[in-house]
Amino acid sequence: MGSTRTVAVLGAGTMGHGIAEVLAIHGIQVNVRDIERRFLDNAKQKIEWSLKKLQEKNQINENAERIMSRLSFELDMQKAVRDCDLIIEAVPEDINVKKDIFRQLDLYTKSSAILATNTSSLPIGEISSAVKDPSRVVGIHFFNPPVMMKLVEVIRSTSTSDKVVRDAISLAKEISKVPILVQKDVPGFIVNRLLVRMMVTARLLVEKRMATVEEVDSVLKYGAKLPMGAFELADYIGLDVITFVEKAMSQRGFHVPLGTLIEDKVREGKLGVKTGSGFYTYTKEQPKPVIPLELSSKINSALILAPSVNEAAWLLSNSVASKDDIEVGVKLGLGFPEGLLHMADEWGIDVIISSLKSLYKATGEAWLEPQQLLLSMVSEGRLGRKSKKGFFEY
Ligand code: CAA
Repeated sequence: MGSTRTVAVLGAGTMGHGIAEVLAIHGIQVNVRDIERRFLDNAKQKIEWSLKKLQEKNQINENAERIMSRLSFELDMQKAVRDCDLIIEAVPEDINVKKDIFRQLDLYTKSSAILATNTSSLPIGEISSAVKDPSRVVGIHFFNPPVMMKLVEVIRSTSTSDKVVRDAISLAKEISKVPILVQKDVPGFIVNRLLVRMMVTARLLVEKRMATVEEVDSVLKYGAKLPMGAFELADYIGLDVITFVEKAMSQRGFHVPLGTLIEDKVREGKLGVKTGSGFYTYTKEQPKPVIPLELSSKINSALILAPSVNEAAWLLSNSVASKDDIEVGVKLGLGFPEGLLHMADEWGIDVIISSLKSLYKATGEAWLEPQQLLLSMVSEGRLGRKSKKGFFEY
């Protein structure tokens, strides 16, 4: 889509403002639209802060003011979208709100415009049922923070046209992102299915008193060398957002027990970094949680990540993702130091299966049952690096 020069971003929240910023950095004119002026003002401030940071580190080629001049902030939907070739919707994860937006897009956009959604959990097919021509609707899913995470998932529904998929992929490349194509419109696509399994397991371990919040995070951060622990990341994403995402996925057949740990926090209004407290407390002086290094060997990191490996096996068995897409997805979407399947090969597929079995024993959760692919790998002696063959050959 080399000719895309005006894009509308709908919703100026965490994702919307970050997506708008990335587009503007790459020379694209952006109309950011939200329903209240204060949301737009807040987005503008955050983009200004972020561009200043990037400028200080010479990570942008132009000065911040010039990039800002490509952004306009609109309340009027029709004005924001009518001349655009591409619209990216990034409003809250509520199917009714999204469908309402897409009904408006049907009325106000050029018929040639691509209608993209940044949903992380709702099927593209469900959203596109709100427009007359669903072939122009596609998922373009960014990761938080969009300015720093290189990954974009491009998701096609059964109706999305090949040209629209190709254009979405070109746009991702044009703005220096690495796109992976999600072959089937399954709840949570690729990366969130893997992420949610890890997050739910982390919560179950704490709820069942098998580990503490700090122990889990220490194991993930210092043991598995992930950029953030599961609870630290949950606070960063927002516990309300996680609740929305997991409920939407659960309602569509991807079973995830939300559990009391997160429900209690949300009820108390402790939504994570944005409210100053969640699983950890955040202040100006202490903007990041202190996670003790000495807890990093309390449990094996394979125990927390085995359900994600099991989910990866499901994605492979159901032709939703390739091995490479899984590896690229976790590295560029979640900042993993290496691919999940390579990590599984290091731990050993037999260790993954015994971890799933012990989690099942402790929790009784049916979704922990090992995928046939993993069982076959073990019965064929493909245990990972130690047998020189697992998901990959060594
Ligand atoms: N713009 C510009 N600069 C930014 C920034 C932004 N948006 N965010 C942070 N920075 C700056 C910081 O201010 C800091 O600057 P200083 O060095 O001057 O202090 C610098 O970047 C480095 O920040 P951190 O020390 O916080 O950096 P880090 O090395 O810890 O990296 C991170 C931050 C990229 C967020 C990293 O922690 C990470 O990869 N975390 C995992 C994030 C993740 O998993 N995201 C996916 C979430 S799931 C999702 O998004 C999907 C969904 O649908 C729910």
